[in-house]
Amino acid sequence: MTTRRSDDRGAPAVAGSIAAVRQAVEEARRAGRTIALVPTMGALHAGHTSLIEAASATGAFTVVSIYVNPTQFGPNEDLDSYPRTPDADRAACGTAGGDLIFAPTSAEMYPRGEQTRVVPGRLAETMCGKFRPGHFQGVCTVVAKLFNIVRPDVAYFGQKDAQQVLIIRRMVQDLHVPVRIETCPIVREPDGLAVSSRNVHLDQEERARALCLYRALCAGRDALLAGEASIDRVVGLMQRTVSETASASGGPVTIDYLTAVDAESLEAPRSPRGRILLAGAVHVGRTRLIDNLVMDLPDNPR
Ligand code: PAJ
Repeated sequence: MTTRRSDDRGAPAVAGSIAAVRQAVEEARRAGRTIALVPTMGALHAGHTSLIEAASATGAFTVVSIYVNPTQFGPNEDLDSYPRTPDADRAACGTAGGDLIFAPTSAEMYPRGEQTRVVPGRLAETMCGKFRPGHFQGVCTVVAKLFNIVRPDVAYFGQKDAQQVLIIRRMVQDLHVPVRIETCPIVREPDGLAVSSRNVHLDQEERARALCLYRALCAGRDALLAGEASIDRVVGLMQRTVSETASASGGPVTIDYLTAVDAESLEAPRSPRGRILLAGAVHVGRTRLIDNLVMDLPDNPR
């Protein structure tokens, strides 16, 4: 038996096999429902539940996949320590309106003998792609598998992973996958820290230091809004803001990157105009954090 039935509290059924999730989706489709997919790695938090709520608010039959995908982790990354909270996830998913959890094993997702990967292009070579070689190949491969397993009409992704959404949109377009991609805004803690599954690893002092990234992005945004015309100076300001905020809160922070790029191509703009993505990744202790802000600047600056 691969599908656990919904219980009285409204917690969604859990499908462990591809056959079980396909059967449930097929039944929902026959009942006239649109099918939505929310791909996650679990340890569900307010960022994830905002995606589930957005999907289920449309009336779609909402499938939430929970799978810590090994192919998107590098050899020295946190695959083993990645938080796993299946019982809490099931409750949170039900409260947010999810209809079905798909929680496959690796034997199901990557059966013995498998050897095919989806290789993204230029969008994956910059920013996080530079520091996590192979990461976006793993993401594209697992998301393509999930699309083929669930065959959703629409899939929901968070702007928190801005580069990931662009790469997935590109993949869907390039491979003619018949799915619509919806992007939902970043959910933040009251002080501005982007909610992340990895925040649980921060101790009290690191939690204070973690705010340096959001502060830096805000400083960059404010400088651009005030008319700063040099991208290099904006990046320099963001770097200083990270270092100063970090040392004021008791310790070093390692910067992977801080950047201001064209929000569609992820390429460096010659001058700040149009839609700009301010983005960064930093290590606070052993925890890697990412965040971003998107802003619209006039096409013809003063
Ligand atoms: P995961 O990190 O679990 O994130 C699942 C989805 O939740 C992603 O689309 C992510 O952008 C979104 N999300 C995370 N934090 C958010 C926040 N604070 N606000 C809004 N959305 C947020 O991203 C992945 O998993 C994986 O790479 C996956 C796509 C599931 C493939 O394995």
